[in-house]
Amino acid sequence: MGFLQIASAHKAYHTPEGAQVRALDDVTIDVRNNEFLTLLGPSGCGKTTLLKCIAGFEDLDGGDLLLEGRSLKGVPAHRRPFNTVFQNYALFPHMTIAQNIGYGLDVAGVRKPERDRRVGEALEMVGLSGFDSRRPAQLSGGQQQRVALARSLVLKPRVLLLDEPLSALDRKMRETMQIELKNLQHSVGITFIFVTHDQEEALAMSDRIAVLSNGRLQQIGRSTEVYDTPANEFVANFVGTSNLFTGRVTERNDRLLTIETANGRRLAARSDGFAVGDGVTLVLRPEHLRIAEPGEGGAGCTIEGTVKDAVFVGSIVHVHVDVGFGRTAILHHRHERAGASAAVAPGASVRIAYSPESVHLIAAAGG
Ligand SMILES: Nc1ncnc2c1ncn2[C@@H]1O[C@H](COP(=O)(O)OP(=O)(O)O)[C@@H](O)[C@H]1O
Ligand SMILES: [Mg+2]
Repeated sequence: MGFLQIASAHKAYHTPEGAQVRALDDVTIDVRNNEFLTLLGPSGCGKTTLLKCIAGFEDLDGGDLLLEGRSLKGVPAHRRPFNTVFQNYALFPHMTIAQNIGYGLDVAGVRKPERDRRVGEALEMVGLSGFDSRRPAQLSGGQQQRVALARSLVLKPRVLLLDEPLSALDRKMRETMQIELKNLQHSVGITFIFVTHDQEEALAMSDRIAVLSNGRLQQIGRSTEVYDTPANEFVANFVGTSNLFTGRVTERNDRLLTIETANGRRLAARSDGFAVGDGVTLVLRPEHLRIAEPGEGGAGCTIEGTVKDAVFVGSIVHVHVDVGFGRTAILHHRHERAGASAAVAPGASVRIAYSPESVHLIAAAGG
């Protein structure tokens, strides 16, 4: 029996314009106890809808939600052992931090000594001991978000639902909070379902990531699984940057495949799957591509092109290479001090090299 099962969830909205939007289209996810699960996808893909249905603020049109085998149908939001943290943390401005955090306990009828103890614990958990008597306006955005977290954690939910809670914070604060939130989840042992449209955030924080697009689940797996072996082109493009080349398998020698693209290029890849004749898409990550040394290169493992742009981003240079036929490949080149970058200056002719082991293959849509 699963912990929290999202079973074939369907939800459609009727827009004022008279159209129908499938916000959730047959989504099935087995959420594990104590995991940090992230729902990742672009704006409008259905993330908030799914959280609202889990929380009980919205009902599913079809499918079910089961907590430890029991359907949540008809269970109102306040009877579900869940709590939600929103992006706009909505603290009560006239109340102190301690009063904000203790509010839910107060409503639940928890007596003062017990309430104070739990509020103190929650403040300590989020690193805000000693801030009890401040008001929200006297805290930074990051601190306010921590209060919002403490306010939820103090109620000891089985599942904490977090809807883009870090997106209002600046980059440095967001990165700090990512680490804190992940550590917090581990220490409190509560299941977190975290929503973000930011793939880096998802990769950094999650035990598992569920990638959604247009209301449909595209892939679910550990961060490294989703990044290293994307299930389809959508995931390959949305999670990290990918160079995609589509073609057909023309030769197979043991695990070494030759793939011919429509414009006649022959590319090599190593894989256990696929047979001669199969349509495939090669996924090549920018960090797996290099500028080849003169005279270097195994058959099928180089691609010729011309440097279009070299974008210096700090430790690496993002090199955009025109590989012909209107296609641009992006590779990550290690930045070296002073001058060594002539090889990647715009206009330079280069050969991109890669190892056939580093290629991930996915079945081309429609074969
Ligand atoms: N109350 C509503 N009425 C009509 N359409 C809605 C409503 N809420 C959400 N939608 C639509 O459902 C889709 C999913 O929305 P949402 O779950 O908010 O996406 P996300 O949180 O991933 O950005 C979007 O196309 C959105 O416009
Ligand atoms: Mg949303």
